[in-house]
Amino acid sequence: MSDLASLEQIILAQIAAASDEAALETVRVSALGKKGSISALLSTLGKMSPDERRTQGAAINLAKDKVTEALAGRREVLKSAALDARLAGETIDVTLPVREAPAETGRVHPLSQVMDELTTIFADMGFSIAEGPDIESDDYNFTKLNFPVGHPAREMHDTFFFNPKEDGSRLLLRTHTSPVQVRTMLSQKPPIRVICPGRTYRIDSDATHTPQFHQVEGLVIDKGSHLGHLKWILHEFCKAFFEVDHINMRFRPSFFPFTEPSLEVDIQCRRDKGEIRFGEGEDWLEVLGCGMVHPKVLKNCGLDPDVYQGFAWGMGIERIAALKYGMPDLRAFFEADERWLSHYGFRPLDLPTLAAGLSA
Ligand code: DAH
Repeated sequence: MSDLASLEQIILAQIAAASDEAALETVRVSALGKKGSISALLSTLGKMSPDERRTQGAAINLAKDKVTEALAGRREVLKSAALDARLAGETIDVTLPVREAPAETGRVHPLSQVMDELTTIFADMGFSIAEGPDIESDDYNFTKLNFPVGHPAREMHDTFFFNPKEDGSRLLLRTHTSPVQVRTMLSQKPPIRVICPGRTYRIDSDATHTPQFHQVEGLVIDKGSHLGHLKWILHEFCKAFFEVDHINMRFRPSFFPFTEPSLEVDIQCRRDKGEIRFGEGEDWLEVLGCGMVHPKVLKNCGLDPDVYQGFAWGMGIERIAALKYGMPDLRAFFEADERWLSHYGFRPLDLPTLAAGLSA
């Protein structure tokens, strides 16, 4: 075999063996580059006789063409192999579930959700929101609400007291949201229509009580307010809150120092295989306390009971949230357990509205 033929075979073998484009480029440079083996042969043509040049020139150029063609062919093969490998490495399984973005994995706490639901419903009825401090005076939490000093109703509140001040008076953590009624009557002129959601505290802890909890208070003061108005408001509220078209309610006589008469309200429900349905069934669930504001409370807050009447109600927010959303243990509201939150929490952008549904 001539030197040229064996050189050509060696180069073609190197081309076939090149495993990637970089290796192929090295082969090209070593054959056809400025100092390449075939280029070196071509540069010898100038020193040959015309006859020799004709035969050798044709043979070398033929070899060069073959090498060029083989390089192009191999380059195509390597290019498409590289593309195939890249595509295989970047495959996406479109059947996999999309991982939620951080904004979507966050959850609104059921307590915040239920507060939003409550305020949506009462705002629609023309109520505004009133607030008061968590640390209250004995006077506003008890005395002005007609809990006389030494009255047993005070003992029922399991109060967290602060150390007595020099004058003997004691601050306390409010045991209910009712002192906000006092603050509202002292600072606003009737007609008054407010709800007062907020934190409350009592020394108590079991599955249905937590030392800190939340209540929402309602207060209406006007000339000529009566129990019929109260019943209508509570009826409309319960239907909207429990998201049913019809609800049966029971008003039972009760006692609160700050209302006369005082009532407790139950709603009818059915419990079936761990599910609860509101508005039908044989069971009754207590949801709130209410009554006509006691004339002494009106007087204590600077209102003339011969001119103004009012009614009020109060309920535990964890309790109604737990009833609506089926949560067995109220302590879980305060444990910040992510599993509980992701199970019972609400999507941040699903805001409760009456038009679109409260808990949709
Ligand atoms: N403050 C009462 C409690 O904590 C709840 C309550 C009952 C509030 C009757 C009211 C009411 O405004 O009229 O147990």
